[in-house]
Amino acid sequence: APAVTTTRHLPTDMSHDPIVIAPSLLTADLSRLGEEVAALEVAGADRIHWDVMDGVFVPNITFGPDVVASARAHCTLPFDAHLMVAEPGLLLRRWVEAGCERIVVHAEAGPHLHRSLAEIAEAGARPGIALNPATPAGAIAHVLDLVDLVLVMTVNPGFGGQRYLDTMAGKISQVAAWVRGVNHAVEIQVDGGVGADTIGHARAAGATSFVSGSALYRHEGGPAAAIAELRARCTADVLVGSDA
Ligand code: DX5
Ligand code: ZN
Repeated sequence: APAVTTTRHLPTDMSHDPIVIAPSLLTADLSRLGEEVAALEVAGADRIHWDVMDGVFVPNITFGPDVVASARAHCTLPFDAHLMVAEPGLLLRRWVEAGCERIVVHAEAGPHLHRSLAEIAEAGARPGIALNPATPAGAIAHVLDLVDLVLVMTVNPGFGGQRYLDTMAGKISQVAAWVRGVNHAVEIQVDGGVGADTIGHARAAGATSFVSGSALYRHEGGPAAAIAELRARCTADVLVGSDA
């Protein structure tokens, strides 16, 4: 693996890292977004994951900055914008003005990833990098110093409700190993098909942060029960017993 900063300040065992549950709004009732983000805060979510799609980088089209801004006053949780867009720099300041604390761009969105991540920080947001399933973990090697979140996609981006790709376990572990080698905290997030039956697999591979959309909204107990079950599935005893 390409050399990254090797100063070791992070605990080698990340089992003490807090578990982050970031619901995706893709499967929410989009006619009531303000109420939906308020309900997710009450349900115990840590932050809101906005799946932004431009119909070019991915076939679907979803939210613009004005939609995000309209929901901002209804919830105090941090907003993460997951930009599945071909030109992530286009609306950068608008995302920040809309109230997004973090902006996650895809390693595959154009040739200037390093510049995009630096521009996000200059705009006052926390930069994150997302990797599509076929993109090797090595894509983060020369930009890990610029981010505090790496998002490993466990579906091909574009739509909610897809099946979790368990073949991503090795990549999650590779990212976790590199993150342990840098001297700042980097959240390892998994996004796509995450539910009660798959979160243990992703946690065991080294992820500590999880986006969940359809599994959370389909849970018969509602979002609060879904979030509680997702957290419970990440505890050590469950992991030891799991076949993850
Ligand atoms: C897919 C999105 C993901 C995810 C959320 O493009 O980036 O956030 O699919 O939905 P579920 O949890 O239903 O896969
Ligand atoms: Zn997403």
